[in-house]
Amino acid sequence: MAISSILDHPVTSLVVVYFVYLLGLVVYRLYFHPLAKYPGPKYAAISRWHEFYYEVVKKGQFTFKIQELHKQYGPIVRIVPDELHIQDSEFYDTVYTKAGRVDKYDWMAGRFGCDTSVFTTGPDELHRIRRGALNPLFSRARIVDLQTIIRTKIDILLDRIREFQRDNKVLPINRAFMALTGEVVMEYCFSISYGHLKLPNFEKTLHEPFMAASISGHLSLQCPWVPKMLSMLPESILVKIEPLYALVFRMQADFRNQINAMKQGKMADVLAKSSHPTVFQELISGNLPESEKETRRLQDEAQLVVAAGVTTTGWALTVATFHLTSNPATLSRLRAELEAAIPNPTAPLSWAELEKLPYLTGCVREAVRLSYAVSTRNPRLFSKPLTYKDWVIPPRTPVSMTIVDVSDDEDIFPAAHEFRPERWIGSPKTKDGSSLERYFVGFGKGSRSCLGINLAHAELYMTLAAVFRNFAFELYETDVSDVALAHDFFLPSPKLDSHGVRVKVLKG
Ligand code: HEM
Repeated sequence: MAISSILDHPVTSLVVVYFVYLLGLVVYRLYFHPLAKYPGPKYAAISRWHEFYYEVVKKGQFTFKIQELHKQYGPIVRIVPDELHIQDSEFYDTVYTKAGRVDKYDWMAGRFGCDTSVFTTGPDELHRIRRGALNPLFSRARIVDLQTIIRTKIDILLDRIREFQRDNKVLPINRAFMALTGEVVMEYCFSISYGHLKLPNFEKTLHEPFMAASISGHLSLQCPWVPKMLSMLPESILVKIEPLYALVFRMQADFRNQINAMKQGKMADVLAKSSHPTVFQELISGNLPESEKETRRLQDEAQLVVAAGVTTTGWALTVATFHLTSNPATLSRLRAELEAAIPNPTAPLSWAELEKLPYLTGCVREAVRLSYAVSTRNPRLFSKPLTYKDWVIPPRTPVSMTIVDVSDDEDIFPAAHEFRPERWIGSPKTKDGSSLERYFVGFGKGSRSCLGINLAHAELYMTLAAVFRNFAFELYETDVSDVALAHDFFLPSPKLDSHGVRVKVLKG
């Protein structure tokens, strides 16, 4: 059959046009794209399919694949057709702080189904508005005032730990910490408690729906139509075919209901009795433009702020507890410092006083460093060309670095996988003479860095001090593989069959 007669058929001619387009795209991306000269494998220059494979099929492995690519191609690599990744701890400051205000990569906004939250906002100007409304609510002064709430929740946790000690029961301490951080952030954001700290084995926490959003995030990014289609299904069917998404949609509906209840004044009595300002009531009554106060927008913000507050801090506490419990010398140094500073173990703790304790501060730093918070690369877009070594990166190119790469950098943190609080004591320096603090990147840096750093620090200092001043633990069927980073779902995850960090409580 002659080619002309094949092309006469509309379907075949469409297929041919499509293949010619694909071929053209491949040639363009390989030879004429502004990033064509950058190091990296050819398959990464052509398409995102390898990213789909490592993220979705292999479950959160692209972060590690990028590390391999750097070993092969050097510190700057074209990891997908339009994005560069840099692995060079010294350059972190430049990308996130020195290069000034930056935009985020719109493509990544759809990860959790909360596209209009402060974290996922692309343009810098819009981010300023959203972040500006939240900043005063998370200032140091506000969190100092919130200490009474944090203490109340920690006291419930201590009572529960005593109960596990009395009954000689195995304590799933990772779940207990997630319950604690969930209760603190829900109290501050909505003045409500789900009572998660009081559940017999902490069987329900907010960590599950947030982890579900995080795990399903890779698929949502690669195939944005999937969550859109699934959201149309009745919940009874969705639970059977896609339980992760079902959990996410239910959580979103919960936040929507909370926001609506506040808007309709149904929370007025609760809020009037509350001993503290409530984040979402303040946003609703504050001076954000009306479009920024729409229920769907605030629902997205709630999902993000609460998620950011639960798993990060809960996981940092878990990682610290694992390392302290498996390292008696480290634990006894912490314990000695706490006993000297807090003679009465049940005295109310002050965040500002605890910050003065050098060994505890080292434990907090190591907890944040080794728990990674965000294990995925974090792209930024610059309006001007960015220079890295001999490369001049074109404006608007997504350029990313990964917190894990800096936190695990052996040149900066020798024996990087070990929990060594003493490495932070006495204004330490790196080999090249710069301050070690410069490489403390666990909260990110610059205008997009963590909003909740004060709340996180208050919780970390007060909880570690209260727990380790009062108790010691023995690990129960738990080893380092239960805390080591094995999957990157944006949030870090250990091996998937982990049963969590479980302990027996030794003394009170
Ligand atoms: C150990 C605890 C925590 C760690 C290590 C941590 C770390 C981070 C990191 C790495 C980012 C991303 C920064 C970037 O994009 O460059 C971030 C963003 C954020 N965090 Fe945290 N976080 C913690 C706790 C909290 C808490 C308790 C809250 C508040 C409830 C919070 C709220 C946020 C928000 C809202 C953002 C987005 C900020 C923006 O895009 O402007 N975080 N955090």
